[in-house]
Amino acid sequence: MNFYFHIPTSIKMERGISKKTGNFFNDLGYKKLFLVTDSGVRGAGILDDIEESLKNASISYQIFDDVVPNPTSENIMDGADRVKSFGADSILAVGGGSSIDTAKGISIMVHNEGDILDYEGVGKIKNPGLPLIVVPTTAGTGSEVTASTIVTNTETHFKTAIISPYIFPTYALLDAELTVKLPGNITAATGMDALTHAIESYTSKTTNPGSEAFSLQAIRMIGENIEKAYFVGNDMASRERMLAASLLAGAAFSQSRLGNVHAISHTLGGVFNIAHGIANAALLPFVMKFNLPACPEKMADIAKALGVKTDHLSVQEAAESAIVAVIHLNKQLNIPLNIKELGVDLNQLPKLVEDSMRSGNVLINPRLTTAQDIQNIIENAYNGRL
Ligand SMILES: [Fe+2]
Repeated sequence: MNFYFHIPTSIKMERGISKKTGNFFNDLGYKKLFLVTDSGVRGAGILDDIEESLKNASISYQIFDDVVPNPTSENIMDGADRVKSFGADSILAVGGGSSIDTAKGISIMVHNEGDILDYEGVGKIKNPGLPLIVVPTTAGTGSEVTASTIVTNTETHFKTAIISPYIFPTYALLDAELTVKLPGNITAATGMDALTHAIESYTSKTTNPGSEAFSLQAIRMIGENIEKAYFVGNDMASRERMLAASLLAGAAFSQSRLGNVHAISHTLGGVFNIAHGIANAALLPFVMKFNLPACPEKMADIAKALGVKTDHLSVQEAAESAIVAVIHLNKQLNIPLNIKELGVDLNQLPKLVEDSMRSGNVLINPRLTTAQDIQNIIENAYNGRL
């Protein structure tokens, strides 16, 4: 059992901590920050308290609110140019996965040559980026504690994974108060993204005891809290536990990586611009069904963690009940049970298969996977045929 467990990000979780962002930067000695966000977060007034705290702490800042869903290389390179002309000494990301991934790319490209897409793969980045502090506003991405950023190549529509220890944020400030006003559809999509991280991480071929512990605890906490967060909205306890669970799931998959759900969902995001969390949620039962013969015991663990009473079931029955539990959650959260409704067009099937197979996640999926397998999973998910 050889493994290397590495999460250099310092994490602080506290209700209302985002209102102390200015003090936090002051304590770290940073004076000029580049604030990466999207227009939705800014328009919702989420930045107001953060900006006030920066002003009170005499921190100068420039706002970049051009982040787009499924971040592009052009967006990142534009941000890096603006950081250089502003002369920022640090970067603050406030938002969901797209804002955090964009900020990671910008941070890296301030200190590295060429284009962000030149660094596709693992360990290619030569120099550390600017210090990066992240404040997630959704409970799902886990990007606040991962070593990767996902960037879309706008020419090929391929979502490129760039993975390096230099991409880990320096600090993550978790404030559940920022997530209480999230609309239901975003709560559902991001929460199911976190559940997918936890499940794919737990069944990956490259787990270790630490990542498995984080994954299972994340599955438990999401199973217990996602419906309350979705149906009540402003229930602080469930929001807080979802935020912590998405962090644990992110910490887990930063060690173990993911699997076929993410291989396919990144492709669907790149080609059809489908929201990441919804694509994951809709694909998850089909990939679990495909993977079941390779890891029935782990699938039985997942069922138990999701609250299924498995004591009187065989391993096979318990494993199958995990798939039923995920489908039940999708139904409760109003998520389609097929990917046809998400706008997938099977005319693009050869490209979807080719791009999915290019993902490094296929290699660590628990069940050996061929291009024909990926095609079958996509076709089954399209037709809603389990
Ligand atoms: Fe994800």
